[in-house]
Amino acid sequence: MSLAGLFLITFLLVHMGVNLLLLFYEDPMVFNQVAHFMGTNILIKIFEIVLFGGFLLHIIYALILQIQNWLARPKRYYKISKSETSAFSRWMIHTAIIILTFLVIHVADFYYKAKFGHAEEILFNGIHYHDLAAMIVSKFQIPGFVIFYIASFILLGFHLMHGFQSAFKTLGLNNLKITPVIQVLSLLYTILVVGGFTAIPLVIYFQ
Ligand code: HEM
Repeated sequence: MSLAGLFLITFLLVHMGVNLLLLFYEDPMVFNQVAHFMGTNILIKIFEIVLFGGFLLHIIYALILQIQNWLARPKRYYKISKSETSAFSRWMIHTAIIILTFLVIHVADFYYKAKFGHAEEILFNGIHYHDLAAMIVSKFQIPGFVIFYIASFILLGFHLMHGFQSAFKTLGLNNLKITPVIQVLSLLYTILVVGGFTAIPLVIYFQ
């Protein structure tokens, strides 16, 4: 589960970096060309299959762990010791369900449309590209959509805050020296990912 989680942590950085091209370059063809490369390159296509497998593994393991927890302790503790569990760790399953809902909507909206020809096409230097930049910009004109996305990113941040540290702990990287470093890295990573993703709908909406 932690390996699948670390894999997803890497995916998020790459996905965010590609999407931020929309903000860094005025010409939307920069983003469209990179998205086209990502969608057609054979190595990245293989990575995509591994990615979906990674998501699936991560979800299946999480469900098994949660069910084992419930079965081991059918009655909940009368009082939860606040010192032993962080708020982020206690809400992992709840944030996970919301992230999963976000993902289903997001993939149906963007990935499905991009892959199965529902996105507008644009001819550039003799090559047909999907105009994913225009699709994203038009989506982020809708206030409800922007709010839903930003709320999902914040909850994703809560999930990552615990998930990032926990993945390293499970892999055995847990001692007095390394744990504080991982905690700082986890905070920096979460701020970067939530901040980077949040900037996209915000900037597009207010531009
Ligand atoms: C502003 C934020 C985001 C934008 C603009 C965005 C945009 C997109 C677009 C355009 C695609 C289709 C790309 C293609 O197939 O060519 C896509 C796919 C995808 N997105 Fe996002 N995304 C955002 C945030 C996220 C987040 C936070 C997650 C995960 C929690 C995520 C997970 C995925 C997945 C799993 C796919 C399908 C696999 C892939 O194409 O790489 N996205 N996204």
